[in-house]
Amino acid sequence: MRGHVTGLDYSEVSCEQSRLANAEAIAEGRMDVVCASVAELPFADASFDVVTTVESFYFWPDPEANLCEVARVIRPVGRFLLVADVYLREGLDPDTLANIRRYDLTVLSPEGYEELVLRAGFASCRCHLSDEGWIAVDAVR
Ligand SMILES: C[S@@+](CC[C@H](N)C(=O)[O-])C[C@H]1O[C@@H](n2cnc3c(N)ncnc32)[C@H](O)[C@@H]1O
Repeated sequence: MRGHVTGLDYSEVSCEQSRLANAEAIAEGRMDVVCASVAELPFADASFDVVTTVESFYFWPDPEANLCEVARVIRPVGRFLLVADVYLREGLDPDTLANIRRYDLTVLSPEGYEELVLRAGFASCRCHLSDEGWIAVDAVR
């Protein structure tokens, strides 16, 4: 059985770029791209096996409510993977900290992510950290 991928972004420009980059998969019916906000996902409950988000969570308008919305569309025992190039930790460089404050970004510690994700209705969560300072938050619905 072949899988189907749905891309989502609230920016028309990002959606158009994604449609161009994935034209072949879209033409073959393996993918579609939807323009909408994570705040209100236009999908039925439990309609995805897996949801991933890469370098986007820090912009989400209401992190806990938006994670609840993500949890809503993942089937029971489905997976959620959040990837970010920065997480809150000792020794974060001052420029990065200044940008987090300036742009009001949601950047959490691994413990902060785990707590928030569990509060949003996921059954389990664990974080993986890279030497380069990236974080992968791996959760099960
Ligand atoms: C840094 S880009 C990362 C894009 C892509 N995931 C990647 O790794 O190349 C962040 C993206 O998040 C999108 N974004 C921010 N807030 C959003 C929201 N509330 N709902 C949906 N997309 C959002 C932005 O439009 C932007 O395209």
